[in-house]
Amino acid sequence: MTTSSFPTIQKPDIKEMKVAPNLDYDKVRGNFDWNEMYGELDWLPGGGLNMAYEAIDRHANGRNRDKLAMIWEGKNGEKEQYTFGQMKQLSDRFANVLKSIGIEKGDRVFVFMDRVPELYITIFGILKAGAIAGPLFSAFGPEPVKDRLQDSGAKVLVTQPDLRRKITEIIPELFELQHIIVVNKDNRDPEPILSSDLSYEEEMAKAPPNFDIVETSQYDYSIMHYTSGTTGKPKGAVHRHQAVVQQYATGKWALDLHEDDIYWCTADPGWVTGTSYGMLAPWTNGVTQLIYEGGFRASKWYELIQDYKVTVWYTAPTAIRMLMKAGENIPRRYDMSSLRFLASVGEPLNPEAVVWGQEVFGMPFHDNWWQTETGAILCANYACMDVRPGSMGKPIPGVELGIVDDDFNPVPVGEDGNLAVRPGWPSMYHTYWNNTEMYNSKFKKGWYMTGDNARVDKDGYFWFVGRADDVINTAGHLVGPFEVESALIEHPAVAEAGVIGKPDPIAMEIVKAFVSLKDGYEATDELRRDITRFSREKLSSAVAPREIEFIDSLPKTRSGKIMRRLLKARELGLPEGDTSTLEED
Ligand code: PRX
Repeated sequence: MTTSSFPTIQKPDIKEMKVAPNLDYDKVRGNFDWNEMYGELDWLPGGGLNMAYEAIDRHANGRNRDKLAMIWEGKNGEKEQYTFGQMKQLSDRFANVLKSIGIEKGDRVFVFMDRVPELYITIFGILKAGAIAGPLFSAFGPEPVKDRLQDSGAKVLVTQPDLRRKITEIIPELFELQHIIVVNKDNRDPEPILSSDLSYEEEMAKAPPNFDIVETSQYDYSIMHYTSGTTGKPKGAVHRHQAVVQQYATGKWALDLHEDDIYWCTADPGWVTGTSYGMLAPWTNGVTQLIYEGGFRASKWYELIQDYKVTVWYTAPTAIRMLMKAGENIPRRYDMSSLRFLASVGEPLNPEAVVWGQEVFGMPFHDNWWQTETGAILCANYACMDVRPGSMGKPIPGVELGIVDDDFNPVPVGEDGNLAVRPGWPSMYHTYWNNTEMYNSKFKKGWYMTGDNARVDKDGYFWFVGRADDVINTAGHLVGPFEVESALIEHPAVAEAGVIGKPDPIAMEIVKAFVSLKDGYEATDELRRDITRFSREKLSSAVAPREIEFIDSLPKTRSGKIMRRLLKARELGLPEGDTSTLEED
């Protein structure tokens, strides 16, 4: 099967569309040169390239100075607005703060904050200072934060009081960390800082409002995001300033951003979608974007679309499935007529969800595919192109995708294989921090291997099949089983742990742990609750196991590796496959 049983959703004639799509796919893809796109950027006066300049300053210096860049709504209903001119000045100030404490080109500055305006200002300030920005998801517990700060050797952490308190215990173990800067948004916290910390508000007040951007070249490092693999701790995928050209281009092509749009990306900058498409794609295109600090609530989300007249909405399959579950009556209570283009990423988007978009909003969700490592969208359904529900669309202009077998040779059209990308796309990551070996291992016979399985149909539409490894995708968050297992075995009662992804109708997969206990411990519900609490505090509830099952011993290979594949097969009632390497009891 290379197509789903859902009929193709045909696009109206361009003349009948509210807005003509930016991209004529067949025309552009056939004859495309990235240099054309590089030519649409502004570049620094000295010939360098800086993401913050492309996203903010070039608009602030031109006719968009007073245009709204960010419309922000806080979790308690607070409202703020920032023009490109204001964003420039504030990020200039923050770059000066970093300069005043000795931050230099290439230093790592990490950000651990909720989606408040200061988070965005801080990241642009870091980029202007020539440093590498490392955004951290604010729901993380101390363990993931420690791993990332230690591995990257971060010199500065910018955070907020409640999150600062959450990680107090790990600070003494961060030998390279020199400063903690604490943002006390609207004086939300009565006891914001310790005497050893710096106050963001005080430092910003002292800092000059103009900053000469540190001359970065397109090859200098800009942002790093940690991502999980099958083995070991998460790895820091490092991006370069030149990624911005592809973020800009795909904002135009895959999200069809036009100047007058009001755009809403629901992703958090702790993950790559939140920086590439919650910051760089819209703002390089000079588009106004809504940022909502709060979490998911169906009626609130529809209210935001109505009140801010959102036109382009980029969200994720789990959120769409939760909206579907909440029912069609809720959106009918709101005015959804501003919406013009819907897109989704991060997990497989089931065809029912694509069609549901058509039924409820009068347009399909446009699925697109990419990864932390790819830095930007590589495969997409476009405004100009008919949608085949369940397909992730076609490769963007300037990118070649392939389906290859385990020897890295192309498989025939319609057959499943490994999804691979021809290296050299502009937003390609440049290394895993401190792990060149792992980086090199991703490149085989002239391909970058994505770790996903997919197929392509005879018309060139790509279809996601599944992960080729043990990495779990829960509600769009990649979770490495090893990370979770390592946290679980730190609990005093746990002898061994094996972690798998268990299918789930909403989150696609949930994290399930199989745990064997040390002698003297009894498998009780109370102990299960205690292990759950322990792992949530260490990791975060997004990563910690949703289900824990006690078993006497875990299946292992003779060399002692836990056989997650077998745990999963048993969980799903599937054949156990080859167990010849199983440890003899
Ligand atoms: O397995 C694929 C899945 O998410 C992985 C990338 O996750 P991450 O590095 O966290 O990047 C998230 C930003 C896109 C992929 O290797 N994935 C992503 N998009 C899709 C998808 N799976 C199916 N369909 C998609 N559209």
